[in-house]
Amino acid sequence: MTTIAHTESGTALEQTLTWWQREDLCYQDGDLYFAGQSVANLVREVRTPGFVYSMDRVRQNLMRLHTALDKAGLKDRHTLLYAMKANRFAPLLAALKHSGLCGIDACSPREVEHAVSCGFRPGEISFTAGSLSRRDFRLLSRFQGLFFDADSIHGIRQWGEMFSGSEIGIRVNPGLGISRDGNDKLQYAGNVTTKFGIYKEQFHEALAVAKDYGLDVTKIHFHTGCGYLTPQLPLWESIIENCLWFIDQCDSVTRVNVGGGLGVPHLASDQALDLDSWAQALWRQFGDRDLHVEVEPGDYLVKDAGLLLLEKTYLETKRDVLFLGVDAGFNIAPEPANYNLPFQPVPVYYRGEPLSPCHVVGNINEALDVWYENALLPDMEDEDYLVLINAGAYSSSMASNHCMRGEFRELLLQ
Ligand SMILES: Cc1ncc(COP(=O)(O)O)c(C=O)c1O
Repeated sequence: MTTIAHTESGTALEQTLTWWQREDLCYQDGDLYFAGQSVANLVREVRTPGFVYSMDRVRQNLMRLHTALDKAGLKDRHTLLYAMKANRFAPLLAALKHSGLCGIDACSPREVEHAVSCGFRPGEISFTAGSLSRRDFRLLSRFQGLFFDADSIHGIRQWGEMFSGSEIGIRVNPGLGISRDGNDKLQYAGNVTTKFGIYKEQFHEALAVAKDYGLDVTKIHFHTGCGYLTPQLPLWESIIENCLWFIDQCDSVTRVNVGGGLGVPHLASDQALDLDSWAQALWRQFGDRDLHVEVEPGDYLVKDAGLLLLEKTYLETKRDVLFLGVDAGFNIAPEPANYNLPFQPVPVYYRGEPLSPCHVVGNINEALDVWYENALLPDMEDEDYLVLINAGAYSSSMASNHCMRGEFRELLLQ
């Protein structure tokens, strides 16, 4: 039986230990369960630091997106491409291929190689990246059927030299960015000129270069930021509207790729993305145009499908702050430190004890190695383990060996 832990109603305490609970991630009689397994058992099996991913949750996330797009009117007119830079764990990629629910968005030749080694055909992979070297293009040319979105005029020329007469996509930059709470570290477009995509000012030149090489521009691609939630939906729609200008310049376009960026809540106060409204905005803008819509989410598919299992190293008050140390630092999951995206710490056992604040910190010699300030947790004196939720995306895939502490384990629960 699933019992969701409840603390005093309506308080910060309640929110700390309830906002993230769901059918497959919740307390049952005080023990944390994830994907049908006791997290205490997972800690024994995987050991710490370790990432555990639930393939069921990833499939549910994919299905929720497909359903919203179908319901909005885009049935048989959309494709989901998993942005594998979010998490490239091979068993996860193989399971995604097996699910048949998505293709791949890749952003480097090695990613393409890896996706192919996990079972994807090049024809199921869409490639979007910038600053590509000659060597990169040579490597890409080995994958017949790969679809290439050029991020610059340089990219159009290089592709044209290898594959004159083929189809190509162009990544555009509408000059408007989007992100969770306006977080500018997560924006790829906006007032500040960025390296991503081709702006309106250069678009006709880009089309002319494509024509010179006999390339058929059949796709417009845009990805303007990450982590957006329901409050950002009006902005989302104006970004789509802005991108119609690019589509209208080019008769040969049959597909539009609206990138990724769909976010998941990180805090009790975050309002989850209303997928129906999100999909309806796509329908309103593209419904009466004869366009196939591609979406390439990373975060939305895998972030909330992953936990980071940690062991407590110490508990100590310094001045007036209680520090809870754990056996891994920001180098194996850089989002909280680098992007201000907190991963809620959650105890493996919770039996209704009072909660009090502590700073959860890692084992790296850097001032930014703080997992979570003022986390509300029960007394951890006699407890050894805790987990960070939302650790399934941009964690292991961005991990470094800084301080030679880059070791971690990974397990996919199928
Ligand atoms: C071109 C492109 N597509 C898709 C994504 C995936 O974004 P997210 O994981 O936020 O969905 C990214 C991430 O930065 C990207 O650059």
